[in-house]
Parts: sequence; structure tokens; C-alpha cells
Amino acid sequence: MSKIMVVGSLIVDVAAYTPHFPIVGETALGTKLKFGPGGKGNNQATAASRAGGEVFMVSKTGKDFLQKIMLDHYEGEKMSTKYIYEDESVGTGSALIEIDDNGDNRIVVIKDANDKLTAAEVDNAEEDFKDSDVLIMQLETSEESILEGKKLAQKYGVPIILNPAPFQAIPDGLFDGIDYLTPNETEAEFFTGIPVVDENDAEKAAQKLHAMGVKNVIITLGKRGVYYSGEDGYKVLVPTTDLKAVDSTGAGDAFNGGFAVAVAEKMPVDTALKFANCVASISVTRQGSGPSMPKREEVLELLERFYKIKL
Ligand code: RIB
Repeated sequence: MSKIMVVGSLIVDVAAYTPHFPIVGETALGTKLKFGPGGKGNNQATAASRAGGEVFMVSKTGKDFLQKIMLDHYEGEKMSTKYIYEDESVGTGSALIEIDDNGDNRIVVIKDANDKLTAAEVDNAEEDFKDSDVLIMQLETSEESILEGKKLAQKYGVPIILNPAPFQAIPDGLFDGIDYLTPNETEAEFFTGIPVVDENDAEKAAQKLHAMGVKNVIITLGKRGVYYSGEDGYKVLVPTTDLKAVDSTGAGDAFNGGFAVAVAEKMPVDTALKFANCVASISVTRQGSGPSMPKREEVLELLERFYKIKL
């Protein structure tokens, strides 16, 4: 089993399903409210674990009722809590999510404890970094935790996937040396200034990201699939599958978690992108973020049916 380190967020999602998003000042009549384990880090960790990786999550919660939702999820998934720290002085991360009838979403995240993850706490996981196959991070924990994760992974030659979400100002040089950067269109525009509408734009944005030191760029383009630009000059647009979305929350996370497994298992790049696409495509057919991640058997079945790849 491949070993996957995640330095990432634990966030409880409070999701309201509504036929349409309310406009400013409107009260929309929704249909359902759901509490569940989310957070980009946790969603990616869950996707990677269900897709076949052994995951070590480095993260932090508060000590409150939301913490229990997160820890119960880890127990249920049989995922390691060895490096999940607790800080009583702050709340567990939370997110308010609205999902409309098209499956689109709007999210407000409160990072809380995730922002208190220290470099020393990341360092404490050094033993497990040493022989891990990949590190995956996002931008939902403290800056120092992300910088330390990068430092440790580079010390041991562990490939790094950085999902630059949610977009925000980043420390100088953070992208330099990143093996795989995985923005969506909006994040790619934020970091490059290039609005990404089509494949040509994705190519231009990717070149800018390469110039910042990113080795391989993967821009997720929602229903259109993913654009890849490698350090060896290989470029490809991989279309997504034919499954119908009901809730796109966590789709990017599903892609990233699946891609982490593919990198850890050293799949050829085309297969890796298709494997990750399958994880994302299945996740959006279900409501919720963390809990919507598919099992490896489901991913392999779709990979074979849609892309004609048998692993
Ligand atoms: O990417 C989806 C996630 O973003 C949600 O689970 C929410 O917690 C926010 O972090």
C-alpha cells in the first residue's frame, strides 16, 4: 500500500441544499441541512484513503462538538489520527456551504484550529515523511505548516502535490520546486492574472506557473476535465467522464486525493489523470464532500468502462 502524507485542514461542513442561491437580502427556502466531515485536507485524505492509499493526516482541531464529528470520521474510515493535534483555545474549523439544484456551491470557511498548526507539529511527523510516497497540501492550514511540509518532503525526495485552494496571497517562493500544482480555473487566474476560459488560456497560465518554479501544472476545468502541462513539455487535455453531477462540493478534493494515490503508485501521467478524474466524477454523483468519496473498486470500474484502462 502506498504511503501518503497530508498536511491539511479538518473542517466540519454545514451544508444547506436550496433550489437557487439567495440574492442579497433574500431568504431562500431550502430543502435540507447536512452536517458532515469536510475541509479540503480531510476530503483529499479521505479520497486518497478510499482510493487505496495509507494516509497520515497532519492537522489540528479544537476541543468541541465539531471535533467529535471529525474524529468519528477518522475512526470510521480507519485512518490514522497519530498527527491530529488538539487546541482547546480555539474552535474546530467549520464551513457554511450552499448547494443549488445544479449541484453548484458557494462556501465560507472559518479555519480556526487549522490556522494554529505549527511547524514543530509538522516536524513531529518526520519519521513518517521519510518513507512516504507523496505529500499533498492545500492552503487551508497555517503558512508555517505548509512551508514545513514542503521542507520535510524535499529533504526526503518525496513528491509534493500542492492544491492552491482557497486562493490567497502566498509566501514568496512557495510554488518554486512544487512537483504538481493543481489549481482550478479561478485559482489559476488568481495566481497568474490570466482568466482561464479555454485550453489556450490554460496553456498560458501553466507557462506562468512553470516560470514560478512549478514542475508540473494541472488545471482542473470542472465539467471540461483537466489540463496538464509537464516539465518535459508534454501537454494534454483529459476530458471528464459521462457521470451526472448532483453536488460538486469537494470535486477538486476528490481529484487531488485520487491523483495523490496515482502519483504514489507511480502510474503513467495519462493514467494518473484519468484515475483522478474517475475519483472526482464519482464523488459529484453523491451529496456531501468527505463522505462522497468513492472506494477503489468503483474507481477501477469507471476507469475501465469510460477510459478503457484496466489496472
Ligand atoms: O473543497 C470543499 C471543501 O472546502 C469543503 O468541504 C469545505 O470544508 C471547504 O474547505
